Formats: sequence, C-alpha cells, structure tokens
Amino acid sequence: MKTILCIGAGYVGGPTMAVIARHCPEHRVEVVDINAERIAAWNSDTLPIYEPGLKEVVEEVRGRNLFFYDDVEGRIDGADIIFVSVNTPTKTFGEGAGRAADLQYWERTARQIARCCTRPKIVVEKSTLPVRTAEAIEAILSNNSGGVEFEVVSNPEFLAEGTAIRDLEEPDRVLIGGHDTPAGRRAVEEVAAIYAHWVPRERLLTTSLWSSELAKLTANALLAQRVSSINAVSALCERTGANVVEVARAVGMDARIGPQFLRAGVGFGGSCFRKDILNLAYLCEHHGLPEAAAYWQQVVELNEHQKRRFVRDMVRTMFNTLAGKRIAVWGFAFKPGTSDTRDSPAITICRLLAEERASVVISDPQALANARADMADVPGVAFTSDPYEAARGAHAVAVLTGWPEYGDLDFGRILEGMERPAFVFDGCNLLDHARLAGMGFCVHRVGAPPLTPG
Ligand code: UDX
Ligand code: UDX
Repeated sequence: MKTILCIGAGYVGGPTMAVIARHCPEHRVEVVDINAERIAAWNSDTLPIYEPGLKEVVEEVRGRNLFFYDDVEGRIDGADIIFVSVNTPTKTFGEGAGRAADLQYWERTARQIARCCTRPKIVVEKSTLPVRTAEAIEAILSNNSGGVEFEVVSNPEFLAEGTAIRDLEEPDRVLIGGHDTPAGRRAVEEVAAIYAHWVPRERLLTTSLWSSELAKLTANALLAQRVSSINAVSALCERTGANVVEVARAVGMDARIGPQFLRAGVGFGGSCFRKDILNLAYLCEHHGLPEAAAYWQQVVELNEHQKRRFVRDMVRTMFNTLAGKRIAVWGFAFKPGTSDTRDSPAITICRLLAEERASVVISDPQALANARADMADVPGVAFTSDPYEAARGAHAVAVLTGWPEYGDLDFGRILEGMERPAFVFDGCNLLDHARLAGMGFCVHRVGAPPLTPG
C-alpha cells in the first residue's frame, strides 16, 4: 500500500485523484489544498466544481481510500508520491507580465514539501509548466531538504472539462516524463504502475522530462490553433457567402486533418489555452526565436479578434446602438458541461456589451455563481438561471455557450416576449437557424450570412 498525495484540489487535482482512488483500492489517496473552504466543499454533498459523473465517483471512494484535508503541511511526510496540481496562472507583473507563467505557487509548494520531508519522495508535476521547470523544482527541493532524496516526474494532464471523468477513465495516452537515470526510471515506473491499474500499457508513454513538459504545451497550442484557424475562415465565410459548417465538414473528412476542433464560434476559453500559448510564445522569445513566438502569439490575437468581431456585428446589425437595449446572454461557462468560466469568451463579450450600455441579462445552467463574480465590477448586469426570463423583453438573444438544452426551448414563447425585430446571435452555431428564421427571428450565425425572417 502506498499513500498518494495531491496538493491542489482544483479542476485537475480533484477529479484525477478520485479516479486514481477508484482504480487503486489498495492505495490511500489524499488531496490537500490551502483553501479550507474548497476542501470543506469536497467533503460535502455540494462539490466545489460541476463535472458530469464526478459526484458518483467521489461518493463511491470518499472515506474509503480518498480523503480531503486542509492541513497541507501535515499530510506531506506521510506520502510516498506527491502530485502537485496547484495553479500556474499567467504572470501579471514584472518580467514576462501577461505572458510568462507565474510559478510562485509552485515554488512555495516545493519549499513546503522540502521543509516537511524526512524520507524520499517522488514529486509529480501535474500542473502545466514551462519547459525545464523541473530543474528549478529539483534545485529548490535538494537545497532545502536536508539530504532527503527527491525524484521529479512530469505527468501532464490532458483531461478536458465537461468530459474529465471519461478522459481520465479512457485516456488517449498517459504521458510520464522522467530522468534517464536508474532512480529516474524507477520513479517513472512507480507512477506508471498507478495508471496501469486501468490504462492499457501501450497507452502509457514515457519520455524525457523536458519532452513531457513541452508536449503538454504543444498539445494545447495545436488544439487552440485549429480553433483560431477555423475562426479565421469563419470571417471569410461571412463575407463570401460560404458556410463554415460545410467547410469544416468538408476539410474534416480528410483523414489527414480529422473532424475535431473545427467548430467555429465566439473563440476558445478555459484555464489552459490562452495561458499555455502565451507561455509557449514567451519561451520561444526567451530562447531567441522571435518568429516562432509571433506565430503562436497570433493564435491568441485571432481569438481576441473573434470576440470583438461578434460584438461589432451585434452593434451594426442592431442599428448601431445597443444603449438601453436588453440583451439576453445564454451561456456564460467557457464551454458546455462545466461551471468553469475562467477565460470564457462570455466575459469579454458581456463587458463589451456593457460598454455599449446595453442592459445585459446573463443566464447559465451551471455557471451563474462564477458569472456573478466575473462581472461583479460591471454595473447594470442582471442574472437568471431561466433563459425564458432572460429573453423576456429583450431586443436580442446572444448564445455564448453551446449548452444543448438551449436548442430545445419553446422558441414560439420566446419570440412572443421579445421586442421586434427579434435578433438571435448564435455564437455557437447551436440552434436550428432555418427554423428560427421561418418563425420570424433575424438570425445571425458564425461563419455564414445572416438569415432574415420568412
Ligand atoms: C491548475 C492550472 O490551471 C493548470 O494549468 C494546471 O495544469 C493544473 O492546475 P486547475 O485544477 O484547473 O488547474 O486549477 P484550480 O482549480 O485553480 O486549482 C488549483 C488549486 O491549488 C486551488 O484550489 C488552490 O487553492 C490550490 N493551491 C494553490 C494550493 O493548494 N496551494 C498553493 O500554494 C496554491
Ligand atoms: C483543454 C485541452 O483540451 C485539455 O487536453 C487540456 O488538459 C486542458 O485544456 P479544456 O480547456 O477543458 O481542455 O476544453 P476544450 O474542450 O479543449 O475547449 C477549449 C475551448 O475551445 C472551449 O472554449 C471550447 O468552446 C473551444 N472550442 C473547442 C471551439 O471553439 N471549437 C472547437 O472546435 C473546439
């Protein structure tokens, strides 16, 4: 039996440890966090994050071999393997502000580990980190531990929110990077042995530490780049009369390209894409590669442009003024299936709408609490969980998160309550546009010309 500890009970740490605990009943899995409130929520009936299937797994294993504590330092020395999944946001100050990763939480955690250890440990980087961070972590650990031995292993997480449990249960691959030394190889094998409880061996991929760190940044950069590429095409479709959905289907059927991540929309969000690409661009620049840096930076620029373009289209369409007009925003989460709003396109779009002095009413089935916090400093914004209520008396509905339930609403009832002309701006290409236009809505979609009523 081993004790596996995870520092950081967030969107990554919580679900990952719950699934490890489920498949490794002989191991004791502990999750700690400096945020006592968050730990209390993990120990309650209302988990701190919404993730399909998560509650069931937690209820199955909590108290059996999965435990949540807020005493971080007290749990460290009892552990054999320590996963670290504290957040690594974009730096907001000093050198590299706005681009480099802020590693202060990681460093603090590494020092905490070093201080509390009296016996050897494997420290696993679960957070996404800039390449060669392990070197810094190793220096901190070895200089502060009074001779205790540490082996640092990189095991980046590829789960996507909304499908976290499925991604953890059936991963495309599990990546484990370590040093090519006897101790390094042993540590990699120990981590691999955990996943081997449920992941087929051929999906356990081992590499060097640096390749593993860089592979995580590269995977997110390539995924985001596809979204920005299709969004760039969507702008051209709107001008030319092509339809981006048709274009995406046609190119996606090419086996070399594939169908995933070609959905045009209001732009990508989430805690990772923007942060990781900015970080990749910063790394390129740091290593004297300004052209490579500019290439990746452009993926983020295009994403910002897509959000501004969406609002610009709304303003132009609605007779060049939104002042005093009620706009119903359907969806605030950065994608459906999650309560997470970090870097959600809705944040930027709602702020731009408020700058136009629109009266914004935000609706979301899971993310309203986060939406309230994100918009706390913006006056004149209202919130309701009921999309009908949001649309009542509105000049326009803007769909910003593709929650499937928005497709099943009673649009006759919605149209009845709205001002005329009744505009729908479908930022997710979710709704049945032809039907809505047939009912009398003016329908604007991403990457295709608008549809007028009738
Ligand atoms: C985070 C990062 O966003 C991501 O880049 C990385 O790959 C994994 O970690 P996530 O789990 O989504 O992902 O972050 P978050 O939900 O913010 O959780 C981090 C947790 O760490 C928070 O609950 C925070 O309280 C905790 N934390 C932070 C500590 O326990 N100790 C610290 O020193 C700092
Ligand atoms: C991502 C990576 O997929 C995951 O492997 C990594 O561990 C963390 O970052 P996540 O941020 O949870 O996961 O969501 P993802 O499904 O990748 O979507 C990111 C954003 O891209 C969302 O805002 C989504 O709406 C948008 N997106 C995705 C599109 O706009 N079009 C698409 O075709 C796909």
